[in-house]
Amino acid sequence: MSGSNTIVALDFAGRREAEALADRLGNACGHYKIGLELLTAAGPGLVEELIGRGHEVFLDLKLFEIPNSVAGAVRAAGALGASMVTVHAMGGTGIMSAAVAAAREFPGLRVIALTVVTSMTGSDLADIGIGTSTEEQVLRLARLAVDAGCDGLVASPREAGALRAALGPRPLIVTPGITLAGGEPGEHAARAGTARAAFAAGASHVVVGRAVTRAADPVAALRRVREGG
Ligand code: C5P
Repeated sequence: MSGSNTIVALDFAGRREAEALADRLGNACGHYKIGLELLTAAGPGLVEELIGRGHEVFLDLKLFEIPNSVAGAVRAAGALGASMVTVHAMGGTGIMSAAVAAAREFPGLRVIALTVVTSMTGSDLADIGIGTSTEEQVLRLARLAVDAGCDGLVASPREAGALRAALGPRPLIVTPGITLAGGEPGEHAARAGTARAAFAAGASHVVVGRAVTRAADPVAALRRVREGG
């Protein structure tokens, strides 16, 4: 598997910590995910810096806004040179179509839809008025996303197989909730799994955060993830 298929989540509070980790990983990591915490704290300069160092950057913006604002944010991500940007499928077809249309002018940018965040359980869905199981809801939103033209989905290791079977080979499946074998699943407990299990189930990419970024030896931890956890 290509190094770029294992994405390291830079969930840090500031630019200095993120750069320190990127320095330590060097060429061992080709693809980083930057979320709202780091983007807000560090600003877009960090994205440009990482891209300048030859890395791909997945901007995990989790967009859920009116279509005009979603389109603007996707264009801004494209102008920075991002490889992927996320949009909430729960926002519906209008939002996803706006994201897809805005991404067209940036050939390197993929629009990835979030279905049900991996920390949510069936009872969390019931709390917000959704009576179906997480599996059914994930599938329903995934089909909606593909129909809206999204390039891929975010899905937990437990759901990647069902999505690959339902959607065929084309969509990207980006899988967070990655644990090392024998490691602590933490808040991923509901739907966690190893990278090996995720790729075997049909994931095209995995996202791993603290198991690498908080490890005493991040390079060795990333190697363990790539070797299957
Ligand atoms: O837990 P870890 O540090 O590996 O998380 C890496 C990324 O996976 C986070 O940035 C988050 O976006 C995503 N994640 C998720 N669902 C969770 C926990 C983390 O989608 N329950």
